[in-house]
Amino acid sequence: MTAPRILLIIGGGIAAYKAIELVRLLRKSGYVVRCVLTRAGEQFVTPLTLAALSENKVYTNLFDLKDEVEMGHIQLSREADLVVVAPATADLLAKMAAGIADDMATTLLLATDKPVLAAPAMNVRMWLHPATRRNVATLRGDGVTVMEPDEGEMACGEYGPGRLPEPAAIKGAIDKALKEAPPPIPLTGQPDFAPANHRPLFGRRILITAGPTHEPIDPVRYIANRSSGKQGFAIAAAAAEAGAEVLLIAGPVELPTPPGVIRIDVETAREMAAEVEAGLPVDAAIMVAAVADWRAADTATQKIKKDGSGAVPPLALAENPDILASVAKSAQRPPLLIGFAAETNDVIAHAEAKLARKGCDWIVANDVSADPMGGETNRVHIVSKGGVDSWDRLPKAAVARKLMEKIADELEVRSPVQTD
Ligand SMILES: Cc1cc2nc3c(=O)[nH]c(=O)nc-3n(C[C@H](O)[C@H](O)[C@H](O)COP(=O)(O)O)c2cc1C
Repeated sequence: MTAPRILLIIGGGIAAYKAIELVRLLRKSGYVVRCVLTRAGEQFVTPLTLAALSENKVYTNLFDLKDEVEMGHIQLSREADLVVVAPATADLLAKMAAGIADDMATTLLLATDKPVLAAPAMNVRMWLHPATRRNVATLRGDGVTVMEPDEGEMACGEYGPGRLPEPAAIKGAIDKALKEAPPPIPLTGQPDFAPANHRPLFGRRILITAGPTHEPIDPVRYIANRSSGKQGFAIAAAAAEAGAEVLLIAGPVELPTPPGVIRIDVETAREMAAEVEAGLPVDAAIMVAAVADWRAADTATQKIKKDGSGAVPPLALAENPDILASVAKSAQRPPLLIGFAAETNDVIAHAEAKLARKGCDWIVANDVSADPMGGETNRVHIVSKGGVDSWDRLPKAAVARKLMEKIADELEVRSPVQTD
């Protein structure tokens, strides 16, 4: 039998310190415990203490992007067998009864499909207040197990019901709830939240380049191209949605950073090459950026002026580093290396030549003759040694998602995740 998994939400009450003992008891019985601390809870116990005792990451902030990349908040709420709120503050009970979801703890409580057990702790008047009475009745009616608090002297000196039940009693209630837990009612047509299915790139690190590069001629002029960055940003968004840790190295574009993506802005090809090198190793690198092939051989330190003679200043060019080819040759070559090729003619033939020349695994070729760069859709051909996979014209976000599915499958073959 696998160990029961408990998601323990710790509210901001004086009894939060007893949650530490509860974690210890649960771990002693071999349970897997993940702790979530409310903002107020953090005033009473530290994430560090809970992390050390639970031997697991502690979650606090709904908008902690790194956590969302590692594990989505919905997945966090689903992968437990039981959600336990201890201490359940008057505030948490009220929010749970009303369906409020304004922080990590309450959002998880609203999103979960698992049974919920609440161990209340509060001042006697708060417990006996008609509002709390109503909230407890509502929660019990909704199927939440709300334990009766202990009676006795409180931290504030008053006497009555409101003390947190002892950790051993909460552990007993947890064991009972686990035994009696009904299976969750499935919603038809929903994704499977098993990590491998729901987040197929969970645990993977993916590097993506996007946008154009700007190669300065003088302080006010530069060489550029028409790349909008939209396809690369859509790919970064899809990779993060699929659970990957995403490093996006972006040329100069005015696009918002997709949620959960770590973004580094660069201007020139040489800056991009340096950031790509620094970003390795990764499981997959997807080079979507339209990197300028050439830069001005010399960059003037001052604006180049017309001198009135009609003479045109010479513009000598120098070749930029070939980022894709150098990653392919690098000692840290990713298990899956993908280049993009925007072509205006002989799309597949050019892509096949580029594949051989650059030493990458796939070239995603797109025909930009009909739909210039910057459009909202793309028709791509995935060219590899194994052949050509041509997709219909799709919105760029759909291309990105389809590409993530293909990458996840390919990584399973090339670089299976170690499970032990
Ligand atoms: C020293 C102190 C002790 C508190 N103890 C409790 C308590 O035992 N129970 C309770 O419901 N609220 C208690 N509160 C009030 C909560 O911290 C407050 O309602 C907070 O908003 C709860 O946030 P949370 O429900 O998100 O954890 C206490 C506040 C302070 C300053």
